This record gives sequence, structure tokens and C-alpha cells, in this order.
Amino acid sequence: MAGRIPQSFIDDLVSRIDIVDLIDGFVPLKKAGKDYKACCPFHGEKTPSFTVSQDKQFYHCFGCGVHGTAIGFLIEYDQLSFVEAVEQLAHKCGLTIPIDSFSPSKPTPQDGPDLYELLEKASLYYQQQLKSHPDAKTAIEYLKNRGLSGEIAKRFDLGYVPDGWDNLMQQFEDNEKMKDALLTAGLLSKNEKGRVYDRFRDRIMFPIHDYRGRIVGFGGRIIAQGEPKYLNSPETPVFHKGSELYGLYMARNAIRDTGRALVVEGYMDVVALAQNGIDYSVATLGTATSKAHLDRIFRHAPEVVFCFDGDRAGKEAAWRALEIALPSMQDGRQASFMFLPDGEDPDSLVRTLGKEEFSILINTAKPLPEYMIDSLAAQADLSRMDGSARLAKLAKPLLEKLPQGVLRQLIKQKIEQMIGIQISVATTQQSGRTASRKEISRGTSQQGKTDIQQAIGYLLQHPEFGAKAQGLESLRDSGLPGFSMLADIVQSIQQSPAPNTAALLERFRDRKEFSRLESLASWDHIYDTEEATDAFNVLLTKFSHQISEARLNQLLEQSNENLSKDEKEELKVLLQRKN
Ligand code: GTP
Ligand code: MN
Repeated sequence: MAGRIPQSFIDDLVSRIDIVDLIDGFVPLKKAGKDYKACCPFHGEKTPSFTVSQDKQFYHCFGCGVHGTAIGFLIEYDQLSFVEAVEQLAHKCGLTIPIDSFSPSKPTPQDGPDLYELLEKASLYYQQQLKSHPDAKTAIEYLKNRGLSGEIAKRFDLGYVPDGWDNLMQQFEDNEKMKDALLTAGLLSKNEKGRVYDRFRDRIMFPIHDYRGRIVGFGGRIIAQGEPKYLNSPETPVFHKGSELYGLYMARNAIRDTGRALVVEGYMDVVALAQNGIDYSVATLGTATSKAHLDRIFRHAPEVVFCFDGDRAGKEAAWRALEIALPSMQDGRQASFMFLPDGEDPDSLVRTLGKEEFSILINTAKPLPEYMIDSLAAQADLSRMDGSARLAKLAKPLLEKLPQGVLRQLIKQKIEQMIGIQISVATTQQSGRTASRKEISRGTSQQGKTDIQQAIGYLLQHPEFGAKAQGLESLRDSGLPGFSMLADIVQSIQQSPAPNTAALLERFRDRKEFSRLESLASWDHIYDTEEATDAFNVLLTKFSHQISEARLNQLLEQSNENLSKDEKEELKVLLQRKN
């Protein structure tokens, strides 16, 4: 198992990175007073409420409530894991994650070869074989017959693996460690007798890239007929079918330029569409579209067009896609559904129609709202009252899946017009983001914040206050909620000063209170630093009174003869102080 990244490294990393620089690379920021602003990349808006603080090294959107550190931004915006985000930031500032405790690019085996490097090397080998192996002629012929040029084959890094049990294996060092790594990468298989052999044999190889262009797996197509038609890499530490999209890396620029992505079913569809000039398509990897897929796509473009077969299976898949898409449909985003004529797939159709006509079909795809309403209406006879009631009942759970906003209101209104009365729809289930928005609006005033929450807020926003917060250790036993968190934060600062809010926060990422801490870090108190200092001191005094009071009560509860000499002395002092 990989070790943990040392906290001292995260501290160092967060204090070197500038969050303003980082975010500006994704969303151009404008200086506004002490802070920087932009239209929020996490929700649609026309006036900027997304704020980045250089002092705190923290971002916060007053519109939708998102907030976080530089690491948090990469996790949210680029859909990275914590480790990936740290890797990227480390790379940016030329730092190496300490190897002894952690080796991020080598998920398993710990000290074996890098899986990404093995996959890349395998892909180069497959590409080389497509060019030079005598048996590759049938593969080349096959690709040509399907209308693909050498140029497109190259753009998608298509390759060929010859028949045989160890062609690929022979390309690598012959030792156990290497075999283990190749097995982990999904390039080799093992039979019951423990014999290891090439997983892919005599197939056309489609490498699957992650969004950063690293090869994470392969789809291998049989040439002409046979079973299975496609053999895919298994799930591996670097390959997760449920969230990767075939072709996204190659299509990313076109998707950004056209503002839309076309989601199709097959590898060959993506390649054939690109061959015919439609270069913004992606395919799921033989799975249904997931929320992770959609979130990834919507990060690149505001519009997604789903392409489905016109048959029954296609219609069912489309409806599932609609249900998955609803929660992602913030105002500003669009989804449409395109149904192909019977017996056609995007590959065959684009070859008959050509780019222009196929593009017209894309443009006339059915918008999500219409698709949803028409499909529901088809299931209810509106000439009858019980039919109208049925429509309302069917629509309700779907409306509840939509985020609150104009789109949801419009669809709701439309359905209400159709049935003639208003329907009541519960507010959206709180997603992480809307929940934090609620917390924030609660937190914009001091009211509703306990003293401890306020103290934690001040500390997170002014880590330098921690140095003077003495004597809080005894608060731990006070039993008051939050005191041990407060004491932990103070202790952490006293052990090692935190350069800013973000660095301090990152020390607590693993705690279950982390998201509440983030909220407190972005709680917009009205004080300037001087006022904050005063307010924090007032709280400290209050706490020390509370400690004395608690201690006093404790001593008073014990009968006099049970007290030691010291305790009697202490009681006397406390009583005097109280009076
Ligand atoms: P062609 O048949 O060559 O046109 O390929 P295609 O990419 O159009 O495939 P198709 O539309 O038949 O299937 C869509 C997707 O489902 C493929 O791209 C694969 O991801 C997946 N798939 C199809 N057949 C198989 C199979 O036999 N095994 C697995 N694991 N996946 C498959
Ligand atoms: Mn096909």
C-alpha cells in the first residue's frame, strides 16, 4: 500500500503555490480590492461572485457557496483525486513528493515499474506493429475498408498486436517484478495454472487516454468476425471505466471551441466521426453514461448531445441518460438527445451523410426539456383527470432531481400548464455544494455561531493568532462541543506556524469536520485584522472564565474533606476571583 504524503510536504507545497496564479490559469481573474474575482466556474452567473483571496490562499463563491484551497480547487474543477491534485501542484513548483513514504505514480506494486510508462511503451509497440508486422496487412486493409486514413489512425494512436502468447511480454525485461506490473496494468493475463500470457492477441488496438493524455487502458477489436468483438483492459489502479471517456483527450480542443460534446457508444464511432470532420465526440467504455462522465464533459463545454440508436434499447438508454443528467443541469448547461434511424450507428451514418448533413442532425437533436416533457406526456392521457394526475406524479421526481434554477421553473410551469393546476415539488436534495451554501448563508452573521465556532473561524483566517492562545489545553476535557477541535488547531499552530489559511486547513483534510472548517474559513466576518484580534481576545477571556467556572463547580461538588491541600488552595483562589 502506498504511504501517506507527509503533512510537512503539504504545508510546504501550499505555502509555495499561489492560488491566484493557479486559478487564473483556468478562469481569468480580475483584481477587486484586496481580492480577485471572476464569474464562478462552478455555477452559471453573469456578475462575478467567485472570490479568490491571496492572503488566505482560499477561494469562495458568494453565489453558490463553493470554497476551498488550491488543492481543493483542482479536486473540484479538474475532478482530480487528492493525490493527483498534490502531484500536479508539486510538479508546478518543481517539488518531488518524498519517495520514501509515497510513490503516487506507481500505485502498485510499490517499488515496481510505473504503470503509465508500461502502458505507453505497450502502445508504442502496438503502433509500430501496425506499421511493420507482416500480419498487420489484414488489419490495415480492415481499417481502410472502414474508411479510415493513416492520418486518423495516427491521431488516435491505433495499433496492432500480432497473434501469439508473448509478443508484448518480450518487449519488457524478463523478471517477476515486471510480470507483476504488466499484470497489474492489465496487459497480461494469468491462467489457473499460474501461466502468464499476453492479454491481447491478433487485435486492432485502441489506446484509451485519460483527460491528461496518459494511456490508462486499451480496447482491442477483433479483426473481422469473432468473439468477443472487443476485449477491454480490466479495471486497474489507473483505469476506471465508469469515469473515463474514450476520445476526450483528442477531442478536448474541439469540444472547447464548439462548446459541445457529442456522446456516442462505440470507439469506432468516435474515430469515424473524426475521420469525417466531426472531432468533438467521445464514447463511454461500454458502460452507461455516469454522473462522473457528465461532470467531466460539462467542465469543457456547456452543451452535451447524446447520440442513441433509434431502437427500443436506444430509447431506454436515452431515458437512463436523462435521469443521470438532470442533477447536473445547472442553468447555462444544455443537453440534447439525438436518435439515429434504425440499423444505423454514427459511424455508418456519417459516412453516408457526410459532415454537413450529420451536423444538421446534431443541431436538430431534441432538447432535454422537450424530450422529458414529450416522453412523460406520452405516458398520460391528458383528456382525463386521472391522466393529468398521472403526469404530475411522473414529473415530480424528475423535477426534484433538477437543481433549483430557471430551467427547473420553466419545465415545472410547462407541466402545470398542461394539467391546469400547480404541483408542489420538494427542494432539491442537498448536494454537497448546496448544503455548504446553506451553511455559508447561516454563517455570514455572527448570530447562530457558537463562541467556539467563531474562535475557530478567527484562527483559520488569522493563523498567527494561534501563538497567543495559551492554556486552551484544559478546554479539551471541558466536554463542550468543538473545544477539542479548537485545541487541536491551536496545538498545530504552536507546533509549527501556518503561513496562511489554506496551509492550516490542509492539515485537517482527513478530519470529519473538514467541510465545516472550510465554511468557517470562508465565513466573512466584518472585522479588519485589528478588530478580529480584539474579538478573538474577548473570546479567549470568555473561555478562560468558562474554564474557571467549570473547575470551580467541580471542586464545589466534592465535599470539603475529600479535597487535597492544593485543591483547597485552588478553590480559594477561584472563589476570590469570582467575587
Ligand atoms: P464496430 O462494431 O467495429 O463498429 O465497433 P463499435 O465501436 O461501433 O462497437 P459497438 O457499437 O458494437 O459497441 C459499442 C461499444 O460497446 C464498443 O465500442 C465497446 O466499448 C463496447 N463493446 C462492444 N462489443 C463488446 C464486447 O464484445 N465486449 C466488450 N467488453 N465491450 C464491447
Ligand atoms: Mn459500430
